[in-house]
Amino acid sequence: MSRPRILSGMRPTGPLHLGNFLGALDNWVRLQDEYECFFIIVDWHALTTDYADPGPIRENVFEVACDWLAAGLDPARSALFVQSEVKEHAELHLLLSMITPLSWLERVPSYKEQQQQLGDRDLSTYGFLGYPLLQTADIVVYKADAVPVGEDQAPHVELTREIVRRFNHLYGRPVFPEPKTLLTASPRIPGTDGRKMSKSYGNVVLLKDPPEVVREKIRPMVTDPARKRRVDPGDPDICPVFDLHEAFSPRETREWAAQGCRTAGIGCLDCKGRLLDHLLHRMEEIHARRPEYASRPDTVWDILEDGARRARAVAAATMEEVRAVMKVGSGKGGR
Ligand code: TRP
Ligand code: SF4
Repeated sequence: MSRPRILSGMRPTGPLHLGNFLGALDNWVRLQDEYECFFIIVDWHALTTDYADPGPIRENVFEVACDWLAAGLDPARSALFVQSEVKEHAELHLLLSMITPLSWLERVPSYKEQQQQLGDRDLSTYGFLGYPLLQTADIVVYKADAVPVGEDQAPHVELTREIVRRFNHLYGRPVFPEPKTLLTASPRIPGTDGRKMSKSYGNVVLLKDPPEVVREKIRPMVTDPARKRRVDPGDPDICPVFDLHEAFSPRETREWAAQGCRTAGIGCLDCKGRLLDHLLHRMEEIHARRPEYASRPDTVWDILEDGARRARAVAAATMEEVRAVMKVGSGKGGR
């Protein structure tokens, strides 16, 4: 019995932080036990917003790959690869564009939102409008059964399902399965300034930050402002440090912190110290594995190439079916 197949992707925007880890990567690592997995570094998607400044993209692909491997994505079990190395995604994107009504793309919520948020760039491009359709191609070219994503990506998977239904209906055959959304519970991961952890706020703790740097970042982290002095009690429910305890510390520690905070029995530095113990413990394996990869780029690129090879085999078979039902090409399946 073959295992159900999942697929997910990340844009290569830079080295990953704790928010990316808990919001996606850590979950993917576990899913490998149950599913046949395809994980894609989507460099074409990065170009939809960063086309004017592609300089860092290739290096970012490498950083993301190192983080993935260090976190425990296992190239022996899962195909890890770069989107642009599997041209079938582009061919399917083109063919799907023939059947996709413009209005379906225009009403995807991320379209107008991102255009406004990234107002400094001209995103009135063909490629940017097609972002979710390229994502659709990523997913269906592998006939994925499910897509593990956070809430923000759910509309993209919904669009994928609509396109699958339209395709199968138009060509009278169930070529593609409708993929399910595997929603990843996303705990609140604040950055060091208390706002959501995000590269654009400059408040992140990176997976690749060594322990000293993690300590330096957490020590001055924003807390409940009511605790001006050691004797002032605080409220863990409004403290971003406590959100990190919720994400990384065991129950006894969380109870100790909450109680000590409310009664001014502990100071914020004590509280952060315990958090660091658990956080650094959780990061230990990553810290141990990452330099092995980061110092051997050839190994990492070989892993990605091997993943692309496996991906291509699956994608090529799907494309033969797609060309057959859409009546394109010679019908001989060769190139
Ligand atoms: N759009 C996704 C994001 O920004 C990345 C992505 C691209 C993706 N292709 C995908 C996610 C396919 C899941 C499946 O996070
Ligand atoms: Fe936050 Fe801990 Fe300080 Fe309370 S004691 S305000 S939970 S850092």
